[in-house]
Amino acid sequence: PKNISISSDYAHVCRAVASRIADLVRAKPGAVLGLATGSSPLGVYAELIRMHREEGLDFSRVTSFNLDEYYPMSASSEHSYHAFMEANLFSQINIGRWYVPDGRSRGMQEILLDCRRYEERIADTGGLDLQLLGIGRTGHVGFNEPGSPRDSRTRLVTLHEVTRVDAAPGFGGLDQVPHQAVSMGIATIMDAREIVMMASGAGKAEIVRRALEGEETEQVPATLIRRHANARFYFDTDAARLL
Ligand code: GLP
Repeated sequence: PKNISISSDYAHVCRAVASRIADLVRAKPGAVLGLATGSSPLGVYAELIRMHREEGLDFSRVTSFNLDEYYPMSASSEHSYHAFMEANLFSQINIGRWYVPDGRSRGMQEILLDCRRYEERIADTGGLDLQLLGIGRTGHVGFNEPGSPRDSRTRLVTLHEVTRVDAAPGFGGLDQVPHQAVSMGIATIMDAREIVMMASGAGKAEIVRRALEGEETEQVPATLIRRHANARFYFDTDAARLL
């Protein structure tokens, strides 16, 4: 399909994704970005930082919303996605405003209210211009695990065991990995005007094949992204090997 870009390796995938984001920010300085964590976007962020330093790419009017945060998780924890984004991107560019879902432990009523506020804040800024996505081995996007409804919005979710196992090394053991997270929903993601999904490495080949060629089902949330009118998929040859 014409909305798939295949590059030779991870570095080239990151360059392609970063230049798409940079083009958007140059064309629309007040762009609203939906950002992602995980190892996949790290090279994209490094490239955006380089463009900021060397080419003066200006983020001062950009607002960003991250997909998800572990729960329970304090923003100041080294394991938080809040800390990840601050260290790997926001402390190194001149971002205007940035938001990550609040992972602080609190009552269910407060969580529901904060999730609704997160959605309202996205809508108030004009909606997401571009949502960046990685893909988990379970087929999750953000932390929308198998079974996530198409109409889901920002909410408290339960993590799949495979996701927890994949996260365990960073936490120093499986028992340290939270069981829950706060994540934008499928509908939140699909409302973005543009979606950029990226994956690299042989370990993603099977889920990439299912995401693009398998039956469209809430059991593999990444398959739902195909329906988006303006989604582009960026893979390296290893991740695209089974397509
Ligand atoms: C985490 C994140 C996802 C990410 C996935 C894949 O679970 N919540 O947004 O896509 O990991 O991570 P990686 O890019 O490290 O393979």
